[in-house]
This record gives sequence, structure tokens and C-alpha cells, in this order.
Amino acid sequence: MNDKLMKEVKIETTLEVYEDFNELPKAIQSLMNSAIAARDNAYAPYSKFNVGAAILLDNNEIVIGSNQENACFPSGLCAERTAIFYAGAKYPNAKMLKMAITASSQSQVTDQPIPPCGACRQSIAEYEIKQDSAIEIYFMGVKGKVVKSESLANLLPLLFESSVL
Ligand code: THU
Repeated sequence: MNDKLMKEVKIETTLEVYEDFNELPKAIQSLMNSAIAARDNAYAPYSKFNVGAAILLDNNEIVIGSNQENACFPSGLCAERTAIFYAGAKYPNAKMLKMAITASSQSQVTDQPIPPCGACRQSIAEYEIKQDSAIEIYFMGVKGKVVKSESLANLLPLLFESSVL
């Protein structure tokens, strides 16, 4: 049987979970507060789902982003990519150290951690590879647990890399 030739590959990832915002280290609370402010200014009239992201750079600057929607739906952009492209454009030589993400539905209480979508993970991965160092990611809803990943790579196994181009 061909099955005998097949090898199973298991992919594992490790995440840390904080019970809530108050358990986060003070510096991360402060970064998350920037993400919350960004979230509350999101332009999300269509989905009514607000997302905010804040990135701490190694020059101590904080760059924020929120989702920006469009009547032509695919023309909008997620908060994480808005933030990461803004950081890349404004501080092209700075390293991104940490990213905080928070999301809030306008129709229900978002009490679970909301991870970045697949397209955002691929985009963030590009900058980890470019700067050759990990970006710590924290994500939450409005309240409840906060998930920490030591690096974006933990959230995106089998990412598409430029070495194959
Ligand atoms: N959204 C984000 O901003 N980040 C994500 O990782 C997932 C989704 C936005 C896109 C859209 O404006 C709304 O949330 C609903 O999908």
C-alpha cells in the first residue's frame, strides 16, 4: 500500500494565554491601549467589526492601524496590514518589536481573542523575515483572554517565502 510510504508530519505551536488585560505586563497594556484607541476609530460601516493594531518599533515609536472598509468590499484593508504597511512606509529602517491587536463587534460583545487573518499573517511574516527578528504578537477581543505569540512564525506554519521565487 502507498500508505506505508507516506510520512506524517505534525506541526506544533506554543502560545501563552493571559486571563485578561489586567494580567498583561504594564508595557503591553500601554501598547494594547494604543490598539484599543485605534480600534475605536476604525472605519467599518459595512462589517461593523472594528479592529485596531499597534506596533512598537525599536526606535520607541508606536505605529497604529485600524481596518478601513470600502463600498467595494475587497478594496478595504485590515487593521494589521494598515499598521504594518504604515510602519514600513514611515520608518523603513526600524525593527518591529511587538504588535497588539484588538477587535470589537458593533453587534455583540467580543469576549474571545481575535487572531489576525491569514492574509495579515503572511504580510507580517514578510517583515519578520526582512528584519531577521521576531515580532511578538498579542491579540484580544474587547475583554477576556489575551493570547501572546512569541513570533508571527508561530501563527503561520508553511508560510510562503521569497526564497522560492
Ligand atoms: N479585519 C481586520 O482588520 N483584521 C483581521 O485580521 C480580520 C478582519 C477586518 C476586515 C473587515 O474590515 C472586518 O474586519 C470584517 O472582516
